[in-house]
Amino acid sequence: MSKTVLVTGGAGFIGSHTVVELLERNYKVIIVDNFSNSKESVIDRIKQITYKDFLLYKLNMLDKVAFSKVFIENKIDSVIHFAGLKAVGESVEKPLLYYRNNIDMTLNLIELMEEFEINNLVFSSSATVYGVDNKPPFREDMSLSATSPYGATKLMIERMLNDIQNAYPEFNIALLRYFNPVGAHKSGIIGEDPEGIPNNLMPYIAQVGSGVRQRLSVFGGDYETDDGTGVRDYIHVMDLAIGHILALEKLQNEKIGCRAYNLGAGKGFSVLEVIKSYEKALGKEISYEIVERRSGDIAKMFADVSKAKEELGFETKKTLDNMCQDVVKWQNFTKR
Ligand code: WQD
Repeated sequence: MSKTVLVTGGAGFIGSHTVVELLERNYKVIIVDNFSNSKESVIDRIKQITYKDFLLYKLNMLDKVAFSKVFIENKIDSVIHFAGLKAVGESVEKPLLYYRNNIDMTLNLIELMEEFEINNLVFSSSATVYGVDNKPPFREDMSLSATSPYGATKLMIERMLNDIQNAYPEFNIALLRYFNPVGAHKSGIIGEDPEGIPNNLMPYIAQVGSGVRQRLSVFGGDYETDDGTGVRDYIHVMDLAIGHILALEKLQNEKIGCRAYNLGAGKGFSVLEVIKSYEKALGKEISYEIVERRSGDIAKMFADVSKAKEELGFETKKTLDNMCQDVVKWQNFTKR
């Protein structure tokens, strides 16, 4: 009998790719999403890719009465919780929105899981919790801190989940700390589709490549890195999706309590290296200009992935070139 997984934020960038992987593995999937940062067209495209059906509840998880219907109407075995606001810059301007939204919706989820005796939870956390004081490669046992209200919500939710699992030992929780998710499904019909001006490097490069934007600003050329530009651990969104499946299966087979895992490639690429790889995939130059550093950025971020490898059997398969090739295909699709 296939297991039923509730995926909050399942229409989002990482959520939709994880839903595709779950369906391909014959899980029954229920998506909850309010489409505040995703398009409803993703739902049909997931069906187009997988030829599988699934349930969709379009609702705001802050509305606990509406949200409880999902639990009343379905027998859920596990939850993957992606839903949340995630723009670092916006969180600095609108901290109240971020705290209310990200924390309250998670509290509603946990209360409903407790009420309906659902124990397995995979939480979408972020490498941002490593703050600015650690030296890479980042390990899960390093000190944690927040550099933005967005990061603070991730840190608080990790803390909440640890406390809840201590108090209610039936809870079984994996905290997945993502590094820099990029790429798109090989079909090229789902991918990262940010509203407005992209905050992140890869979607911005993609829009320069497709002529939507004129030129990329490279934030800082004087970091202590080989070529002076920022180094990050880019992970293909499909590798990331598989990491969620491995974490889910770990929870289904074993009581782990509440444990954090880094999901990254375990190595870093600089901004200039990403540009070069994208130019190779696109077959033309990307115009860029090196400008001032972006406040809050650090020189290098990349993961120590030994714990995820050892305990989840996780390792990335896709290269930076694969990531750029898949983004080019996706960008051509959305540009149409
Ligand atoms: C990558 C590199 C920039 C844009 C952020 C969030 C983090 C996580 C992942 C959610 C850096 C440089 C970027 C541009 C540039 N999100 N850059 N020009 O900052 O590593 O992480 O996204 O969990 O929480 O902080 O990702 O893609 O913004 O930047 O030069 O227009 O590209 O300086 O070196 P980042 P990013």
